[in-house]
Amino acid sequence: MTKLTPRLNAIANMIDPCNVLADVGCDHGYISLFVLQNWKANRVLCIDISLKSLEKTIKLLKRNKVDDQAIFYNCDGLKGVKQKPDQILIAGMGGTEIINILYEYSQRTSLDSIETLIIQPMRDEYAVRKWLNDNGFVIVSDRVVKDKKLYHLIKAHRGQQQLNEHQLMFGAIEVDYYNKDYLLWLREYEEKCVRILSNAHGQIAVTQSVRGTLNKIRNQIKLVEEKLC
Ligand SMILES: C[S@@+](CC[C@H](N)C(=O)[O-])C[C@H]1O[C@@H](n2cnc3c(N)ncnc32)[C@H](O)[C@@H]1O
Repeated sequence: MTKLTPRLNAIANMIDPCNVLADVGCDHGYISLFVLQNWKANRVLCIDISLKSLEKTIKLLKRNKVDDQAIFYNCDGLKGVKQKPDQILIAGMGGTEIINILYEYSQRTSLDSIETLIIQPMRDEYAVRKWLNDNGFVIVSDRVVKDKKLYHLIKAHRGQQQLNEHQLMFGAIEVDYYNKDYLLWLREYEEKCVRILSNAHGQIAVTQSVRGTLNKIRNQIKLVEEKLC
């Protein structure tokens, strides 16, 4: 069995047992393999826009003799996919790209057929939360995972919720804040804002907005530090 990196391991642990899982942007195929070897899905739709990437998944699943439970698609998002997945994983892409894939899918198929979404955006996690909030999903887990970098990992079920601005910015689930990886992310975010401010050269609009964000981040850091000690 392949040893998963901390990021892939966290993703794998979030997957619910299901009938059909779509692994959009499957690339190396490690998650598809994990899902099939651990009987987490009856079938996996392995999808990648790059044929070269998809071939890595095909090879891996064949080598491990689980390819008969997979369907391979060389396409953009879910555009060429015929089956309706009940769980969709999209990891390692930008948040806007992920939203586009889900939006395109929603134009052809009701989102009601999706029970679970697992999303690991490389950036724009605010936009991902907002899209989920506005399109009938409830975020049930919203964590930061440390690997070579810090990654956001969001899991959602079909349902309604009303996230406020603070939740969109800092995460939907409060209990998921209280750990060291989340604190590291907050500190990185703080540093980024400080850098922007020092390069803003007095541009008032930038300075005011970033100062506001910085205050919110520092309050959040205080809250998490208090919980952790
Ligand atoms: C950085 S890799 C992430 C691989 C894996 N999901 C992970 O998290 O380790 C991104 C993969 O998504 C694929 N990809 C990017 N845009 C895509 C799209 N619109 N539809 C399907 N696959 C896409 C890329 O070809 C690449 O293989």
